[in-house]
Amino acid sequence: MMPTRRDLKFDHSKTDLKNWHARGPLIGHYMNALSIFFPEGERFFIHSLRLYRDQITDPELKKAVTAFIGQEAMHGREHEEYNELLAAQGLPAAELGEVVNTILAQLKKLPKAMQLSITIALEHFTAIYGDHLLRHPELTEGSDPEMVAMWNWHALEETEHKGVAYDVYTKVMGKTLSSYALRTSTLIGVTALFLGLIAAFHVRIAMADKAAKKGVREWAGYAWFLFGPVGGLRKIALPWLDYFKPGFHPWDHDNREFLSRIDEIVARHAVPASKPTLASAA
Ligand SMILES: [Fe+2]
Ligand SMILES: [Fe+2]
Repeated sequence: MMPTRRDLKFDHSKTDLKNWHARGPLIGHYMNALSIFFPEGERFFIHSLRLYRDQITDPELKKAVTAFIGQEAMHGREHEEYNELLAAQGLPAAELGEVVNTILAQLKKLPKAMQLSITIALEHFTAIYGDHLLRHPELTEGSDPEMVAMWNWHALEETEHKGVAYDVYTKVMGKTLSSYALRTSTLIGVTALFLGLIAAFHVRIAMADKAAKKGVREWAGYAWFLFGPVGGLRKIALPWLDYFKPGFHPWDHDNREFLSRIDEIVARHAVPASKPTLASAA
């Protein structure tokens, strides 16, 4: 699967970011909390791949890495604007972004193999979360259309490039017991850190929004969103576990059938000068 860099724009200037999700502010704030991680997180992914760029000689993989970097850069740009608007609407996005920056600055001091293993672990998360969002459009149905388009675009491109960082890791680390041990132990550490931070960020944002109702009913709705029949954390549990199979590859979860959905988003959101390539023509 060769990813395509697309220059798309999403305009949230007219969106009430405190209340954009059809299922209420607490769900919207959960996704707002996720957005805080992206700009710097995605720059970290790019940085960790660049550490190994000179070791990648396969022309197809080289091309895929360039496209991966292009996609993540675009995601970073759009989420940065989204986060700036969160701050402008009175939410603590800048403060929480600083927490992310501080953590990533520490991670950049680790040996480069560990940094790449962190990237592929987090890419596993974006791939399985993205799949979940694409598989269950009812979870965002009726929400602000511009936000829905943006999250779907991000999920689709995360799907498109989900094998790239993993292929780089396999290429440079080999299929050895130590490379297996590093990637799986990293996933466990990253999962604990990531889920803990998301929960903390979510609570911080929700508490900062004084107008949002935060009664038992609202928190129950949030719990349903995560753990109900189509709940995100419940549904990603099994795909998360697949990472521990010795021969795992992200495309073992073959969900390429969703990718044609990008065409409609491109038609509405492409920056005119960028002449993006439609997925169907790629
Ligand atoms: Fe991304
Ligand atoms: Fe990604």
